[in-house]
Amino acid sequence: MKTVCFIGAGSFGTALSTVVASKGCRVNIFDVDEPHLKRMEDAMENTDYLPGVKLSGDYHFYTNNEEAIKDADVVVFSLPAQIFRVALKAAVPFIREDALVMNIAKGIEQKTLKRMSEIAEEMFDMDRYVMISGPSHAEEVGIGVPTTISVSSRNIESAKAIQELFGTNRLRLYTNDDMIGMELAGSLKNVMAVGSGIIGGLGFGDNARAAMMTRGLAEMTRLGVKLGGKPETFAGLAGVGDMIVTCTSMHSRNFRCGKLIGEGMDPEEARKSIGMVVEGMFTAEAAVELAKKADVEMPITEAIYAVITGKLDVKTGVEMLMGRPLKAEM
Ligand SMILES: NC(=O)c1ccc[n+]([C@@H]2O[C@H](COP(=O)([O-])OP(=O)(O)OC[C@H]3O[C@@H](n4cnc5c(N)ncnc54)[C@H](O)[C@@H]3O)[C@@H](O)[C@H]2O)c1
Repeated sequence: MKTVCFIGAGSFGTALSTVVASKGCRVNIFDVDEPHLKRMEDAMENTDYLPGVKLSGDYHFYTNNEEAIKDADVVVFSLPAQIFRVALKAAVPFIREDALVMNIAKGIEQKTLKRMSEIAEEMFDMDRYVMISGPSHAEEVGIGVPTTISVSSRNIESAKAIQELFGTNRLRLYTNDDMIGMELAGSLKNVMAVGSGIIGGLGFGDNARAAMMTRGLAEMTRLGVKLGGKPETFAGLAGVGDMIVTCTSMHSRNFRCGKLIGEGMDPEEARKSIGMVVEGMFTAEAAVELAKKADVEMPITEAIYAVITGKLDVKTGVEMLMGRPLKAEM
């Protein structure tokens, strides 16, 4: 049986750990937050980030990354995108030469504007690097709600190994060779989720949400394709699938944060009140920068970024978007 090490004991990492634990794998969990890890070990439940999901199986908890990593067949980076670089750098010396690295973070690095795989490429063998993305609330994966996601690697054998390892009759993985598209779709949709939450907070209805999601997907696809992604990926699980899940559900912290902003809360206060990393708030800036560099129009993303940085109030933002020059849909 394989040993799977999770770097970061957040909600999705924990949910995925239950999947491999249920298949008999040894699960090593490492986190820098020692009190959080201790609470998790004592309760055999992630009471901080995934309450209600009991952990059973061969679990081991570590506050030392070397101990957690050195015997692992697969090392899963289950932490926020802005921390991925530092966590991977700290882990690389201890990762076995035949081990796979899997990343679940959805985001773009601020300042460098790099996708997660571009960061990994600086310090790791990309044939052993795999990423997953798709519509998958941790809260639902943790209780075994049927879920589908996509998995990508430069080396199809690595993607297939993860497909096999995490696949159950409740979690179905599809391989996808478009890592660029998957990474961009998964990151950019978090910005749209904040926007969708704002629409909810403003009390607007389903029409407005459908408009935001559809036109939002159009601009995400525009940027994604310009940067080398495939349009089909944006129409697939990592694209429209994840948009539906993130833009319509209170499980999404991006959505919840947007809702508070739409209801009138100061964006920074809203972000803090969520208590976990709100990826969309970070990705918005990177998305606007990437769009500028690639010369792609992203009016919705720009409006959301302006709102969350306090440069634009929400109502004016909506008026601006609705008052743009008339044009053809396609
Ligand atoms: N929550 C979901 O449903 C879901 C689903 C799919 C993808 N994702 C993505 O997965 C990523 C992680 O989200 P999450 O919800 O699993 O985690 P999280 O953001 O809730 O928690 C991250 C954990 O990482 C720990 N951590 C921080 N720095 C660390 C370090 N240097 N080394 C080790 N641990 C460290 C924190 O203490 C925390 O316990 C995000 O990019 C998110 O967008 C989340």
